[in-house]
Amino acid sequence: MKFAVLIAALLALLPGLAQAQTTEPTLILQIGERRVSIARPALLGHPAAREIEIAADAAYRRPMRYRAVPLAVLFAGFAIPAGATLEGKATDGFVAQIPLKPALGQGSAQALVAIEPADAPWPALPGKNVSAGPFYLVWLNENSQGIGPEQWPYMLASLSVVQPPAARWPQIAVAATLPPAAPARLGQELFVQHCFACHRMNGGGEASVGPDLNLPMNPTEYFQPQALRRYLRDPAAVRSWPEQKMPPIPREQVSDAELGHLIAYLQHMAGRRAKN
Ligand code: HEC
Repeated sequence: MKFAVLIAALLALLPGLAQAQTTEPTLILQIGERRVSIARPALLGHPAAREIEIAADAAYRRPMRYRAVPLAVLFAGFAIPAGATLEGKATDGFVAQIPLKPALGQGSAQALVAIEPADAPWPALPGKNVSAGPFYLVWLNENSQGIGPEQWPYMLASLSVVQPPAARWPQIAVAATLPPAAPARLGQELFVQHCFACHRMNGGGEASVGPDLNLPMNPTEYFQPQALRRYLRDPAAVRSWPEQKMPPIPREQVSDAELGHLIAYLQHMAGRRAKN
């Protein structure tokens, strides 16, 4: 009789156990057709997981400590195509384009996936009511490697090795006739690095945080030039409302000359509008 009670109790527990397993968040790693998904407990218990300290955390804007696994370890054993980019997709529509070499630790910088433990949740992000978890791409020694805040995607759902953006979406590219040092061409690179995570361009891209910056109109067509510069440096100085999400682009991230290149790119793209 006792035995039967025990069995019944175990059976009652089973659905709960199964549920706990399926609701654990998973991180998807993808290269071409190869797709692996890793659940949070497996990442936390990964042999290469370690405690790290981030001095200047891009999302929390203060020092943070995490349990994290180096990205290079997670992608070990995958065949990485030459010239590829890393794309990090977040659950909030943010899609980061990340240079692959520093991400895979082929330099002084190191990218790691930080994992939020279920029993010790991270604090809410500044100005938000959610944390950066369950997964967050963080960097060690990223200075001078062209890694800005847009390369620190949080609420991460997947990391994929893909072709570079202009190969996947030719409609974001400047005219082939522009010389290599043309401001608009330099601006295209800056756009992919700093803006493409939130904005589509000319119908290209996957971000869904902010508006497409060429369709149906391009901001250089309806912003006064001075107002556009001011807006990019400090959006709230031009328009302000509580749900505003466009981040200020500070000089340490994009110099005045680079801002000029970005605007040259936007202007150039106004003349290359995709038909839709
Ligand atoms: C973190 C996401 C994010 C990033 C990164 C970002 N933006 Fe935005 N941007 C937005 C959102 C969202 C809006 C819509 C207004 C708002 O909610 O603040 C916006 C609005 C704009 C607008 C105004 C469009 C209009 O019609 O009002 C311009 C211009 C713009 N962004 C340009 C840029 C450029 C150029 C970059 C890169 C240097 C950039 N943004 C980077 C999220 C972003």
